[in-house]
Amino acid sequence: AADPRLQGISDAIRVVPHFPKPGIMFNDITALLLRPGVFKDAVDMFVERYRGMGIAAVAGIEARGFIFGPAIALAIGAKFIPLRKPGKLPGNLISTLQLEYGTDCLEMHVGAVEPGDRVVVVDDLVATGGTLSAAIKLLGEPLPLLLFSL
Ligand code: PRP
Repeated sequence: AADPRLQGISDAIRVVPHFPKPGIMFNDITALLLRPGVFKDAVDMFVERYRGMGIAAVAGIEARGFIFGPAIALAIGAKFIPLRKPGKLPGNLISTLQLEYGTDCLEMHVGAVEPGDRVVVVDDLVATGGTLSAAIKLLGEPLPLLLFSL
């Protein structure tokens, strides 16, 4: 049977048609954040899934992965890695910028992920999968990545 918390989580997400542009059904999680019990349920379900699995890092995708990711990371004893939109992070970065030009671009600090780390990627939703795909490239495939310094 499905976890009974799922219905409450689903009910707390506000669906806004034609935002931010025509044809898009926007799933707004800010309504869920206003209900502490439901917010906790959403975090707890991930904590229960990933606790005790040797997860070294939770990587949160800008921007709404920054809302759920740290709560999950703290509860399972993992580090938190922000995966940011281009131009936001200083220093030595790994980027999907040139490979993914014109599509979804994310950056993270060199060394944030260490060899052998098991990483959980967190965001609020998947639509085309482009953003998640960029995150996985960043975290999991060392060879095609671009390294540079700002
Ligand atoms: C949304 C959402 C995901 C992504 C999913 O972010 O939070 O990150 O789109 O879409 P995809 O699967 O088609 O890539 P958004 O573009 O609104 O950016 P923001 O979180 O920085 O506002």
